[in-house]
This record gives sequence, structure tokens and C-alpha cells, in this order.
Amino acid sequence: MREEVVCRASPSLALVKYWGKQSTRKNLPATPSLAVTLGGIYTRTRVKTAPSDSIRLNEQPAELDRFSHLFDTLRRVAGRDVGFQVETENNFPSSAGLASSSSGFAALTVACARILELDLSAAQLSALARTGSASAARSLFGGFTLLPAGGHRAEQLYGPEYWPELRILIALVSHRAKAVSSRDAMEATRETSPYYRAWLRNAGELLGPALRALEKRDIEALGTVARLSYSRMHAALLASSPPVLYWLPATVAVIRECAHLRAEGIGAWETLDAGPQVKILCLDSDVEVIRERLGALDPQLQLIVAPVGEGPVCE
Ligand code: DP6
Repeated sequence: MREEVVCRASPSLALVKYWGKQSTRKNLPATPSLAVTLGGIYTRTRVKTAPSDSIRLNEQPAELDRFSHLFDTLRRVAGRDVGFQVETENNFPSSAGLASSSSGFAALTVACARILELDLSAAQLSALARTGSASAARSLFGGFTLLPAGGHRAEQLYGPEYWPELRILIALVSHRAKAVSSRDAMEATRETSPYYRAWLRNAGELLGPALRALEKRDIEALGTVARLSYSRMHAALLASSPPVLYWLPATVAVIRECAHLRAEGIGAWETLDAGPQVKILCLDSDVEVIRERLGALDPQLQLIVAPVGEGPVCE
């Protein structure tokens, strides 16, 4: 067994969204998701062996509940009775709808497996990470990934080199942690939204056009599907009881600016997750003009530009 391991993983941004669980106990997704791994932003996780488990997230102690199942599974697979002392940091705001649980559970799974010297494939690690957070199954790979409905693991469709001009521009409209976690909001949608069934049916129908658009590297077609996916997910969320609304006025302003840009022939296709941040799918050649326009909207708006990223790495 190693004494200390440090691993990094990047968030997985879904263009076709996972929202809802087929099995809550096994954490299996009810909808397929097609995602891109974001380059340049990551969770960095240091794991040491210790007499008992502990986690510090961005220098604050974190509740162990969400992690115990993953830790117990790893101990069982390795046949070792060890504790994990974990310190983890994001180089981007946590819990604000930037998919930090995807990069967090991916980095944690890889680091714990490595400290136990488990010889697991990326697919096996992906299945383990999924038990912690389904989107983390996708963060086990760089490039473009697919996690099927009911899938135990994600797969890589194309590597990071497949689309070098693609950029994701993240508009950080708020630095506050969100009020409702994606897990709770997802359950609320399933239990109380009359649109949940329609969402499930339609989510599957969006996958085909998204895959074809990706195959052709057709950003307009892919962006069009991505907009439908997040809009329908949020429509189902908004119809929950009580309604869940993640959007802030600044979120809506950015969405509208993207519409203006597209009307002028500039490719800017937005998507949103369980939070107020807006992520804009665009090409490298359009980044500067989109930046300028969003800057004119709000000079305080923080922007992060991410290319397509790599899978996890250990230092
Ligand atoms: C809106 O993977 O955070 O980002 O499996 O309960 O941990 P759990 O949920 P999580 O949900 C991600 C939802 C999403 C869409 C997506 O990433 O596909």
C-alpha cells in the first residue's frame, strides 16, 4: 500500500443531461447523458491511509455520509481494513452548479484505488465513481463521454483531441453555494413534478441527434440539442412542488445575450446545470467577441474559458 497519493480530475459538463435516478440505492441514472470533460479546471485530491476516515473539502471538514459507501466498497475490493484521510480542493467555485461532484468523486475514486494499489480499468473506476455521483462516472475519461440510461459506467466516445477548436465559456454569475443540492432537486422532480415522465421520455429522444451532431462536429446542431436538454430539465424542475428555480436575474441576462449573439451569426449555445452558472458552447474563434459582449453586460462577471479536457491524472 502507498502512503500518500495526489490525483486530479476535471468536471464533466453534460450537453444531454442526466436528471433523475432509475435506482436511488444503486445510483443509476434514469436518462442517458452525453458530456464533455472540461480542461483547466479540476479537483485535486490528496489521500493518506489513516486509522479512520476523514474528509476536508476546501479546508473545511465535510460530512462522511456521502462517501462511506464508496470507501467501504474500495476496502472490500482491496480486502484491506484501512481508513482514508482525504484533503480535496477545487480550483473553481464548489457547489455552485459547476459539476464539482463529478470531478470530486472521480479524483477521490482514482486516488483511493491507487493508494490501495488496486489494478482497475478506467471502466471499473467509472462504475465505482458512479456510486458516489453518477456524473463522476463520466469524469473518469477525457474528451466526450456517454453514460447510458441505467448504465453502470460511462464510456469515452472521442478523446480530447477530437475537437481542438471547441470551447466552453463559463459565466460565473454567482459565487454562493446553491440552496438545493442536485441530488435533492432530482428526487423532488421525480416525486413531485407532473412533467417528470415526459422529461424521461424526451431525454432519450435527444440523444440520437446529439450523437449525430457530435459525429459531424456540427456545433450548431449540438448546441441546439444542448439548449433543449437543459431547458426541458429546468422546466421539469420548475414544475416540482415546491418549485425549484436555480436561475438568477444574471443567469437570464446571459441566456438572452447568447440569443442575441446567435441572431447576429455568432455561435454561442448556452447550457445550465443545477445552479445559476451559464456554460456557453462555442468555437475558439468566437471566444473574444462573446467575452466582450458578456463583459459589456456586466463588467464584474467572471468568465472561465475551458477547452476539451483530459481524464484524471495522478501526480
Ligand atoms: C444537472 O451527478 O451531481 O449536472 O448522481 O446524485 O450525485 P448524483 O447527481 P449529479 O447530478 C448531475 C446533474 C447535472 C446533469 C449532468 O451532469 O448530467
